[in-house]
Amino acid sequence: LRVAVLISGSGSNLQALIDAVEGRQLPGVEIVLVISNKASAQGLQRALKHKLPAAYIPWKKREEAEQQILSLLQLFRADLIVLAGWMRILSAEFTSQFPQRMINLHPALLPDDSGDTYTTSDGSVIPALRGLHVIERAIEAGLKVTGSTVHYVIPAVDAGPVIGRAEVAIEPGDTPDTLQEKLKSQEHRLIVEAVRAYAEQVHLVAPAQ
Ligand code: GRF
Repeated sequence: LRVAVLISGSGSNLQALIDAVEGRQLPGVEIVLVISNKASAQGLQRALKHKLPAAYIPWKKREEAEQQILSLLQLFRADLIVLAGWMRILSAEFTSQFPQRMINLHPALLPDDSGDTYTTSDGSVIPALRGLHVIERAIEAGLKVTGSTVHYVIPAVDAGPVIGRAEVAIEPGDTPDTLQEKLKSQEHRLIVEAVRAYAEQVHLVAPAQ
């Protein structure tokens, strides 16, 4: 399975995937390309350190950037695209070209449907936070629990079939920074599991030739 990872920042989830591949925890998976829309993204350095092809695509005009990304994805024959801390909204024209082939990591709990609420494991109903600044919004809303979701990408933003979730308690004194760290440590596990499940599924459907 040839995986491309799109990032905008620190790339700790990219690192989790790199570590899992290098540690042979993702058999059959290869990271073939890393793309960032920010030149200064620490994730680009991580990619280079591990000798992975890495590209910076400036996001000035969306259409142009998407065209460049598309060309690279084709050139590197990516089977699966992982949005791991990718902070730009991709157009429907773009995402619809990768049905069931693009997954996103979102730092809030999203429901199975397109509804506006999520029911946590202890039965509390909380708002399904989509879009930007969801970590801050979870704290401001006084939520006791939030989490992260990994899901397939569909044209609607932060929606699409859910692959996995992890709940994280918001404790008194949590700040956006402390909460983000807690979420990330769950995400590192979630994203690796999602890619593993995807790779296994692909194998079931199409055995390696
Ligand atoms: C993650 O928390 C992800 O959910 C959000 O951005 C963060 C990316 O972190 N969309 P990193 O760049 O992988 O460290």
